[in-house]
Amino acid sequence: MSNALSVRNLTKRFGGLVAVDNITVDFPKGVLNAVIGPNGAGKTTLFNLVTGILPATAGSVIFEGNELVGMKPHQIVARGLSRTLQIKSVFGGMTVADNVRIAVLAHEKIGNPLRPASSYREITARVEELLAQTGLERLARIESGTLSYGDVALLEIALALANKPRLLLLDEPICGMSPSETERTVARITHLAKTTDIILIEHDMEVVFAVADLITVMAQGRLLAQDKPKAIAADPRVQEVYLGAPEEAA
Ligand SMILES: Nc1ncnc2c1ncn2[C@@H]1O[C@H](COP(=O)(O)OP(=O)(O)O)[C@@H](O)[C@H]1O
Ligand SMILES: [Mg+2]
Repeated sequence: MSNALSVRNLTKRFGGLVAVDNITVDFPKGVLNAVIGPNGAGKTTLFNLVTGILPATAGSVIFEGNELVGMKPHQIVARGLSRTLQIKSVFGGMTVADNVRIAVLAHEKIGNPLRPASSYREITARVEELLAQTGLERLARIESGTLSYGDVALLEIALALANKPRLLLLDEPICGMSPSETERTVARITHLAKTTDIILIEHDMEVVFAVADLITVMAQGRLLAQDKPKAIAADPRVQEVYLGAPEEAA
């Protein structure tokens, strides 16, 4: 089984705190991977290390045979690994379609600066494809600053997909969404997982157990378990971690 991502002895220290503590784990291809764990377990830090946003203290991250540790974030994106961007990356004064268009144009430049520019028609087709993939067609001409929280999250996914990633990292994409927005976004993510490898950090256990094929559990910076949802739900070590922090168990 080939892996979408391999992490070896990855460590991140913040002064005396070891946020990611010697993690070794593989995320296999072709399955929807979820990463869970109580608040402060090191999940977001793991993503920040993988995407080059933070330098690792030690260890290795292998994506498609390449070492990512030491690369800059834009180099990692250009290799085909994207994550959802922060909300500030959405230009509020521009329409949804124009935000996506800028991301598509940026990807063209980064992807291959020597390639002749695509035609206006090709770019527009790609923008429409991304809007359809994320269910944002009906909002194409809306100013992004007026979008609901859930629609901003979908726009962020569209921007990440503009880079044509083969691996997409999503950090709590449904956080703050209404139940109907959650349902819509979860359906989109499940659909996307058919064509793009996904690693999803999610604290909503109902969502995790509904969509994940394989669950990786972190606690206090360490890898606690990795298994199919049924086995994870039955794992006493996992139950203990969540019972030990009842405020995070929701
Ligand atoms: N930039 C940072 N500087 C210092 N400490 C940090 C930083 N980022 C995260 N941490 C700490 O690292 C630990 C793991 O945080 P994080 O990766 O955000 O956990 P999770 O995403 O699992 O909730 C926490 O104790 C957090 O306070
Ligand atoms: Mg986090």
